[in-house]
Amino acid sequence: MSNRIPLPYSPIILEIFRNPKHFGELKDADIVARAGSPACGDLITVYLKIKKRGSNYFIEDAKFESYGCAANIAAASILIDMIIGRSMKDAWNISWKMISDKLGGLPSIKFHCSILAVGALRRAIRMYFEKNNLRPEWLPENLTSLEKQVLDEEKAIEMLRITPKIEENR
Ligand code: FES
Repeated sequence: MSNRIPLPYSPIILEIFRNPKHFGELKDADIVARAGSPACGDLITVYLKIKKRGSNYFIEDAKFESYGCAANIAAASILIDMIIGRSMKDAWNISWKMISDKLGGLPSIKFHCSILAVGALRRAIRMYFEKNNLRPEWLPENLTSLEKQVLDEEKAIEMLRITPKIEENR
């Protein structure tokens, strides 16, 4: 019998984890962004289909793939649900805390799962505008602290992957 204590997931998280929405590849996506690393098993991919209306850009459709935990799948599913039909600006302003609240509260050890989902979305939004040589006035020039945190996690994961090789070659 396992001695592990089950995480205190809310019923909302468990329900969305069992029946995630918007899961899978979006074949005609305009932009695809990934965050995390397969090295630790946590990897999320966000697909966005964008449409310009007037001077604004809207997320016409979106999907995600996740190789993360239950919290990451639930966070990504609810995030994608929130951004479909919204402007890129509105999507950019969704915080990991908003996701956590909508999920009925993530256990603190799982905050990063929501941060990873929002980080992947922000990366996709940045990539879209960079690819199209656009710079909306609401898009921060420098990485936000959330984006930096995701980058730091990715670097830490890479270090874990590289360290054994360095030791082997000593
Ligand atoms: Fe890393 Fe959930 S995505 S523990």
